[in-house]
Amino acid sequence: MSSASLISAQGDAKHLYTIVVLGASGDLAKKKTFPALFGLFKNRYLSRNTRIIGYARTKMDQTSFEGHVSKFIKVKNEEDKAALSRFLSVCSYQSGQYDHDGDFQELEKHIERVEKISGAKERLFYMALPPSVFIPVAACLKKNNYRQDVVTRLIVEKPFGMDLDSSRKLAKELGALFKEEEIYRIDHYLGKEMVKNLMILRFANVIFGSVWNRHSIDNIQITFKEKIGTQGRGGYFDEFGIIRDVMQNHLLQILTLVAMEPPVTLSSEDVRDEKVKVLRFIPPIAKEDILLGQYTKSEDGKEPGYLDDSTVPRGSKTPTYAAATLFIHNERWAGVPFVLKCGKALDQQKTEIRIQFKDVPGSIFTNLSRNEIVIRVQPGEALYVKMMNKEPGLGMKTIISDLDLSYSSRFNSSVIPEAYESLILDALNGDQSNFVRDDELDAAWKIFTPILKTIDEGEIDPIPYALGSRGPEGVSEFVAKYGYTRE
Ligand code: NDP
Ligand code: BG6
Repeated sequence: MSSASLISAQGDAKHLYTIVVLGASGDLAKKKTFPALFGLFKNRYLSRNTRIIGYARTKMDQTSFEGHVSKFIKVKNEEDKAALSRFLSVCSYQSGQYDHDGDFQELEKHIERVEKISGAKERLFYMALPPSVFIPVAACLKKNNYRQDVVTRLIVEKPFGMDLDSSRKLAKELGALFKEEEIYRIDHYLGKEMVKNLMILRFANVIFGSVWNRHSIDNIQITFKEKIGTQGRGGYFDEFGIIRDVMQNHLLQILTLVAMEPPVTLSSEDVRDEKVKVLRFIPPIAKEDILLGQYTKSEDGKEPGYLDDSTVPRGSKTPTYAAATLFIHNERWAGVPFVLKCGKALDQQKTEIRIQFKDVPGSIFTNLSRNEIVIRVQPGEALYVKMMNKEPGLGMKTIISDLDLSYSSRFNSSVIPEAYESLILDALNGDQSNFVRDDELDAAWKIFTPILKTIDEGEIDPIPYALGSRGPEGVSEFVAKYGYTRE
């Protein structure tokens, strides 16, 4: 590689980075990190002079590394093919242990070599690693690859601890190595298009702002459904369960954006201050406000249940489904239930936010359904408002209708970026607003830790549900208990 071969055009890229992906041989790196980096590179959000270095213990030559990097990258046409070939030419790989200074010194030499050519003065370390090596790797990076004259950012993947104590320990250890403004804790739901849309919907529309409170809203449901089960990774999942895997992070982040007060500005700290504030108004989840489930074989008996996975401890009570109701004791939300539901091995894949309004007071009509605003995060981004209308024709019959903003028919959906693309770009630009701050994490764990302790002690029996079903029996009653009514 000679400096003459470098392309000077930098598209929209604002910075020139060296990106190091640690754990580059892994699942996340292959499925999400490299495809996202490719998307940014292709669309010129990464400078053409950017260099990307993969690091992991596995020995790989350049050809097998390129095969690994490109496995999940979609190439639709000749243009993509050419872009992929340029992308691979800026990627290189180095193997090493996660706790050997010598290996990280070799990595430093590699980084310096590519920086000499690229001229990069900023470094992004992406830790696509299991939590057991977060701290050893961060310590080696600080000791061997941290330079005062270079802007350094560190992306960390969840899980950020198992409970309040372990999260605080992790935060303290990481905080001793890197400054909070250098740490980017990813919750990839914060990069999803409809999640990013929440602030605009709420704070850029007069029609929503004035009804977004306990005076008009009866209850809110935030639902995550997934068709896939734990698929042979039950042993890993069993340590965490669905609450730590999805609810305490992804669903709580959505809740926060739905419920927070308007930030003073869009700056990272103003946004995150409001998020922390709303979390602090939520008391720990009570035992009577939770329902757990665990999937069994599919109804036809062909697909194995959770406990059939040989890596899952016998008789495990770890939930693969959970519904929990949270309350926010502040002026805006007192008394409004926020029902969070999430599960694996269900009948469909769907993430949505359903805001159900109160009954029309003193209605002169009968057979009214409640207004609802539904924000579908995935699949198929959409926003629709359920409202009563006059059934066209003679007479005055009411009919429920939708004001429908389905993105597939309104927008060019190919412009919707992958969540990881959006977040990596934010990190490159030094924007932390869509990343989790340490005190936010603390507030989140305070809500969940007591109930998780009860669950870990085996005090709540999960209700079995068949793989591919709608979930455990009793979920409809659970949701109805908090005021949700069906049309
Ligand atoms: P992997 O299990 O694939 O691990 C990544 C790499 O780390 C492996 O290729 C391996 O590299 C190394 N590694 C694996 N196990 C160990 C170990 N016990 N000790 C030391 N090194 C190990 O993880 P993922 O890529 O699935 O996940 C990485 C991080 O991202 C995790 O924190 C995970 O929770 C998070 N995450 C993952 C998602 C996904 O879709 N996979 C989604 C959201 C978050 P080598 O042996 O070559 O060093
Ligand atoms: C991850 C969870 O954080 O999110 C997985 O660990 C889950 O269990 C995944 O499948 C869902 O993400 P997405 O983007 O596919 O909805």
